[in-house]
Amino acid sequence: PVTVYPSQSDASIHVANRIASLIKEKQANGEKAVLGLATGATPVQVYKELVRQHKEEGLSFKNVVTFNLDEYFPMQPTADQSYVTFMKKNLFDLIDIPAENINIPDGTIDISQVQAYCEAYEQKISELGGLDIQLLGIGRTGHIGFNEPGSAPNSGTRLVTLDDLTRRDASRGFGGKEYVPTKAITMGVGTIFKAKEIVLMAWNENKAEIVKKAVEGEMSPEIPATYLQLSNNVEFILDEGAASLLT
Ligand code: F6R
Repeated sequence: PVTVYPSQSDASIHVANRIASLIKEKQANGEKAVLGLATGATPVQVYKELVRQHKEEGLSFKNVVTFNLDEYFPMQPTADQSYVTFMKKNLFDLIDIPAENINIPDGTIDISQVQAYCEAYEQKISELGGLDIQLLGIGRTGHIGFNEPGSAPNSGTRLVTLDDLTRRDASRGFGGKEYVPTKAITMGVGTIFKAKEIVLMAWNENKAEIVKKAVEGEMSPEIPATYLQLSNNVEFILDEGAASLLT
């Protein structure tokens, strides 16, 4: 289903409330909530609202385990552009999540170890019972996570090559496209599909064209987000700008 909100903040508060309810429900049952998280501009207000609920309403993340979708490769966790830095700044340093509950693909792993590392990442998610909810943004190439055009629907966590458009879109943070890594480690489309709930968020008119293709277009590996049409557990949460081309 597609839900359109009047603004990005209304939509983000709705998503944050869903996550907060999940966390509280799990807490009440003495269980862990397993969250699949995204970086980038899209989820920033969701994280802001979760931080607010932590500070003002006592929402605790002690029973939360997180798995981030992706990380650039190679990438030092302490670099300004790393997704580790992003997650710390926007969420993890501002809440009470235990450090050992945080999982982000390691951009420093030796290339010869990457495959085993990716399999272990996947395995760890399964051992915890799978992702309760996966947050997604969408790239202008139609990527989810860093599953660029050509990704298979059953792909797992792996090392991928970034699309030129993705690197161009990331260039501001790196001071030029040539400084954006050419590769990344990402959860696969298959990994994302195993989540019990998938929430894809998109804001603003510059996402309208790709959102239209993802929601209404023919399913194709050229636009990996179209695979989501196969899932019964996915919700597209849009603001009016991102929904503006939907029929
Ligand atoms: C980020 C990720 C990407 C982004 C997408 C949109 O972890 O996996 O798929 O969600 O590139 O980026 P923004 O939100 O910056 O428009």
